[in-house]
Amino acid sequence: MVLSLDRLNKIRSIDTVANTMVAEAGCILGNLRRAAEEKHRLLPLSLAAEDSCQIGGNLATNAGGVNVVRYGMARELVLGIEAVLPNGEIYHGLRTLRKDNTGYDLKQLFIGSEGTLGVITAAALRLYARNDARCVVLAAVEDPASALKLFEFLFGVCGGRLQAFEYFTGACVDLVLEQVDGVQDPFPQRYPGYVLVELADTVDIEALNSQVEVAIGGSLEQGLCVDAVVSTSLAQLQSLWRLREEISEAQRADGPHLKHDVSIPIERIPDFMLAMETKLHKMEAGVRPYIFGHFGDGNLHYNVSRPVGADKSWSTTAGKALTTEVLNEVLRFGGSISAEHGIGQLKREDFLETKDPLELRLMLEIKKVFDPASIMNPGKLL
Ligand code: LAC
Ligand code: ZN
Repeated sequence: MVLSLDRLNKIRSIDTVANTMVAEAGCILGNLRRAAEEKHRLLPLSLAAEDSCQIGGNLATNAGGVNVVRYGMARELVLGIEAVLPNGEIYHGLRTLRKDNTGYDLKQLFIGSEGTLGVITAAALRLYARNDARCVVLAAVEDPASALKLFEFLFGVCGGRLQAFEYFTGACVDLVLEQVDGVQDPFPQRYPGYVLVELADTVDIEALNSQVEVAIGGSLEQGLCVDAVVSTSLAQLQSLWRLREEISEAQRADGPHLKHDVSIPIERIPDFMLAMETKLHKMEAGVRPYIFGHFGDGNLHYNVSRPVGADKSWSTTAGKALTTEVLNEVLRFGGSISAEHGIGQLKREDFLETKDPLELRLMLEIKKVFDPASIMNPGKLL
């Protein structure tokens, strides 16, 4: 049985004193963001698919997106959950309290459960101040090590205003320009890597811009980046974002590929990327890595496309060994084999093989408590 929550699409309330929004599971994320904006508030969860994905799914999968570096993952934005349990009982956890220290935090079990414990029907979400001043910087960097230093420097200068810190390689830019119409490269030449930074605040745009000017001036002076473009209009800001947000779409258009949504302790990302590059080189597979992601929170989409001329079945045949190499390296670096996309069916074997046995046992026991007959989303996660 497949369940659609499309019609559970009402916003039950928006409270601008407590800064909360109660929305039903079938609401489209983009609609919720716009509803918050109309009330001069911000719902920070933001991702490329926000105009089609639903908040219930965002929460069931604990979505990440581009603003995690400042506001956290989906689970950090939730104050309460309403859910239907497999036996038909309703869990009435739709509280909007900031502080509720009465035992285990049950709502958090549903978030990221991938539908295996119950069906989320509504959620109470945290709202923040609306950031009317926004500025995007696209910086060209020599390598991931410079990106790391740039992150440390910008965080020191801009602190809480740092809203997104995304990284992508020059190969990603080539692919986007090749596969997606209407995207522009603001630089006259190709660089090895790019960092897209968004800074935002409630202050006026002049105040923000002058801080950005100082920050980027300092970064160029110290050689943390080699070139930079700063947005001067909303249209330019959106155009710069497209270079990053269209990467997934460009790779899809290019054909089947391996997706590795991994996280690494941020200070180890440059070493991980070097180690992985050496491995790929040794395998002589002729593959095309397209590496991009939410560098500021340690999340890389270490995606790999088939060699030029290879059959489209490559990712399900020869690609398997490569995935094992990538995931093993991620674990060796103390990372996670799924940073924000979850486990589902595709990563289930890897998950069961690599998760700590104690953690896995506790998860199986929790599953039994909620869903003893195992009817919820069978074959996923556990
Ligand atoms: C992104 C998706 C793949 O970051 O998570 O573009
Ligand atoms: Zn992502």
